Amino acid sequence: MNARSVNNYESYAEFYDSWQDSWPESVMTPCVNMLADIAAGRPTLELAVGTGRIALPLSQRGIEVSGVDLSEAMLARLRRKPGADKLSIKLGNMADVPFEGPFGLIYCVASFEYLVTQDDQLRFFANVEKRLATGGSIVIQTIIPNEAIFSNDFRLNRMSDLPSGEDEMASVMLMGVKGDPVAQILDQRIMVLGEKPQVFRHKIRFVWPNELDLLARSAGLSLHARWSNWQRESFGSTSRLVISEYRRA
Ligand SMILES: C[S@@+](CC[C@H](N)C(=O)[O-])C[C@H]1O[C@@H](n2cnc3c(N)ncnc32)[C@H](O)[C@@H]1O
Repeated sequence: MNARSVNNYESYAEFYDSWQDSWPESVMTPCVNMLADIAAGRPTLELAVGTGRIALPLSQRGIEVSGVDLSEAMLARLRRKPGADKLSIKLGNMADVPFEGPFGLIYCVASFEYLVTQDDQLRFFANVEKRLATGGSIVIQTIIPNEAIFSNDFRLNRMSDLPSGEDEMASVMLMGVKGDPVAQILDQRIMVLGEKPQVFRHKIRFVWPNELDLLARSAGLSLHARWSNWQRESFGSTSRLVISEYRRA
């Protein structure tokens, strides 16, 4: 099963900017600040760039940003945004890292787990290592999943209101999740209820931080820093977000 067949970003793209991409300024600004600090003016690559919510503000800081994504629909939305002409964008699989480099910073936010096999995750790190400049960093944001990993049947994991359209018809998003704790797979069904109900499927392979470190080590990269959020708060046993920076060992 390839990555394209298990994730519905072609149709999901329509919703992404209105509600998935709903980071408040209090998260977005520290994220872009941290990435800009690590990039330190060097060429930068986003793996799974999506609609450019991070790449565009980073590029506005004067950084040369490239990006790859598997979804034409997500990239089409990115290309319509102001400043997109300054980015170098490719359609492709992030595990291939389809750019020459070298890059001072490569980053991947909220997307690494879409590589649903350990082989693809290993390939990702091996290719990243080849494209890093001397002293370069790879920064990855992953999650610590909740107890949904143990549910054999779909269970409701999240519910949120979506912005209402011009007709004031409110929409609701429900996310059902089924887990496989052994294969480390979360099978997510996202239902958008409103005027035009739709269901999307996303499948991810979650990794615990120590597996992420081991995947990186297999490519000759070692953990340089780890935080629990973009405000650089320390990471601990209660953290649910994992931001890891690796450099060549
Ligand atoms: C949650 S979005 C994140 C986008 C962007 N990083 C952000 O933070 O807004 C996940 C993105 O991963 C992309 N994606 C999933 N699998 C991929 C793959 N194997 N290679 C490249 N992109 C992929 C999807 O098309 C989607 O744009």
